[in-house]
Amino acid sequence: MKALVINCSPVRNGATAEIVHIVSEQLAEKMAVKCICIDDYRFGFCRGCRSCHLSAKCDLDDDIPVILKEFDLADIIICVSPSYWADIPGQFKAFIDRCTPWCNTHEPHAAIAAGKKGYSIALRTGPGMKECERIISSLEHFYGHLEIVPSGSLALCSVEGKEDVLPRMQEITDFCSTIYRRARI
Ligand SMILES: Cc1cc2nc3c(=O)[nH]c(=O)nc-3n(C[C@H](O)[C@H](O)[C@H](O)COP(=O)(O)O)c2cc1C
Repeated sequence: MKALVINCSPVRNGATAEIVHIVSEQLAEKMAVKCICIDDYRFGFCRGCRSCHLSAKCDLDDDIPVILKEFDLADIIICVSPSYWADIPGQFKAFIDRCTPWCNTHEPHAAIAAGKKGYSIALRTGPGMKECERIISSLEHFYGHLEIVPSGSLALCSVEGKEDVLPRMQEITDFCSTIYRRARI
């Protein structure tokens, strides 16, 4: 069993990175874990040309296939995303747009192996859950079109910096327990 934990924020040492670190350490007790940060990769924006609708490939030559390879190698994918202006950060949205060759709404399309479970963790500084729900919904929409089964989510409000993460350890630990249980390990 292998998990891929993704920091959807471009910040490598902030609250999102801290949650990625905690989740990775906890899951590593039961499975192989790889952590990546969206900022580890270089890729251009989707230009909306739709050539991938005919070819299942993108004409741009950059790191997108490298990221999708990591998805393909994992059984469990966990996206950890902060709210940037009430949605996922632009870098992660740009990545999702570039996954159009893998989107199941057109034929032919590229595909990662079936049967993966996808989890979402959303965090924000403000207090209301609705904004986290929007982020979870964006991530689950993405999972659905890659045929990754949305399997659970965690919303953490009132988190600005990494110092706000430690007091939320129990919620994160409980969420990791759900991931193990659903993986039946
Ligand atoms: C550009 C930007 C926009 C943000 N927009 C929001 C927002 O709309 N609502 C909110 O609650 N927090 C917002 N935040 C705060 C982050 O969600 C919060 O600091 C998060 O815990 C950590 O993000 P990081 O890991 O990328 O540093 C924003 C932060 C940044 C940098």
